[in-house]
Amino acid sequence: MFINVPKGTQDILPEDITKWYYIEDKIREVLNKYGYREIRTPAFEYTELFVRGIGESTDIVTKEMFTFPDRKGRSLTLRPEGTAPVVRAYLENKMGRTSKVVKLFYIGSMFRCEKPQAGRFRQFNQFGIEVIGTESPVVDVEVIAAALEVYEKLGLKNLKILLNSVGCKKCRVDYVQKLKEFIEDKKIFLCSECINRYKKNPLRVLDCKKDSCQKIIKKAPRITENLCQECRLHFAEVISYLDDLKIKYCIDYRLVRGLDYYTKTAFEIVSGELGAQNAIGGGGRYDDLAEELEGKPTPGVGFAAGIERMIIVMNQQKIEWPKYKEIDVFVTTVSEENKVIAFKLLQKIRNFGLSADMDYSGGSLKSQMRIANKVGARYVIIMGQEEFAKGLVILRNMKTKEQREVQTDNLINELTSCIDSM
Ligand code: HAM
Repeated sequence: MFINVPKGTQDILPEDITKWYYIEDKIREVLNKYGYREIRTPAFEYTELFVRGIGESTDIVTKEMFTFPDRKGRSLTLRPEGTAPVVRAYLENKMGRTSKVVKLFYIGSMFRCEKPQAGRFRQFNQFGIEVIGTESPVVDVEVIAAALEVYEKLGLKNLKILLNSVGCKKCRVDYVQKLKEFIEDKKIFLCSECINRYKKNPLRVLDCKKDSCQKIIKKAPRITENLCQECRLHFAEVISYLDDLKIKYCIDYRLVRGLDYYTKTAFEIVSGELGAQNAIGGGGRYDDLAEELEGKPTPGVGFAAGIERMIIVMNQQKIEWPKYKEIDVFVTTVSEENKVIAFKLLQKIRNFGLSADMDYSGGSLKSQMRIANKVGARYVIIMGQEEFAKGLVILRNMKTKEQREVQTDNLINELTSCIDSM
């Protein structure tokens, strides 16, 4: 039986890879401009990192992690997200010693054992930003602005920012108590998952998308009206800086996000083009995460976006993708004996810095020309028997269809001047 890719994963084929290069280039271009430096952490970590970082009762930790033992029986997990690993790397490498505020970004695969559906995969790619070492609300806004600029540079339109504050350890305790009291006599109307959430993490009930739960939640006390003085001020400043930059947002009092490390600012960027899985990115502040991981108290804020979802939206919005990079020269031969000479010529052209290829399958000249067309060759070199004996090759311009004989010794000069003048 043929073995397919595992459920929820996909191949990125050569015809699509240029989309990925394009997106990754734009991410790097924008984030370097904002002063973020790239970090690459391992694809797997000790499971404990995610249990402590993301939260024991979250869906990710209870249901969605790919967890396996190493040979000594220590539990490892394929990273389901990038924030806990980046904070771990920040602490482990003492990155805070050299600068008080550390600005990092990453691009990489994440793994969640979710039920696959449109826009939801088991292996997916995120680009993410993390700023570690400052509580300043300006940075929350910088993170949002940088994320928006990446989307904008890629041409994504009609995105909406949902914004909320989930408070801090201090004010959340009182709020959760209030919320529990509010839900208590309405529990029987909640879905079974929410009854569970109510017991383990009542805040997550606010996030339920089911109509029956939404009806109840609509009237629930709002977290933003129950913030402590410090959190209220922080939220007001975030809002005021967003207004200053004319960044539009909607306050969503029910937005709590699926990871437990959030404090104060929480936000999501959504697109109408994504259906049920409408979040193209999300983030927020995590001022207690470093401490949770046994580090010194160090505030942080960040964001991550799903690249597959960005591609879906870009396709739906009919955003033009950059063209395939064409190949400069395609070398063809009319006889088997010329193959080795053709290959040497090919290498000479490549050594000169031009992109060049040939057909190794021994097809006719006609089929070689077809391949040259398919790979978008700008020029084709035809090594005919007669011409070659006279030290000549035929150089064909594939766009104008003009062809002429060229001295083999002078070929590189001819090629570079033709390609430079294009
Ligand atoms: P998250 O909301 O879990 O946040 O994921 C961020 C984005 O990753 C989502 O908005 C979505 O675009 C994409 N995503 C998530 N799960 C899937 C999936 N199964 N298939 C396809 N795309 C998916 C985080 O991961 C946080 N670490 C973000 C953050 C950074 N918070 C602070 N810093």
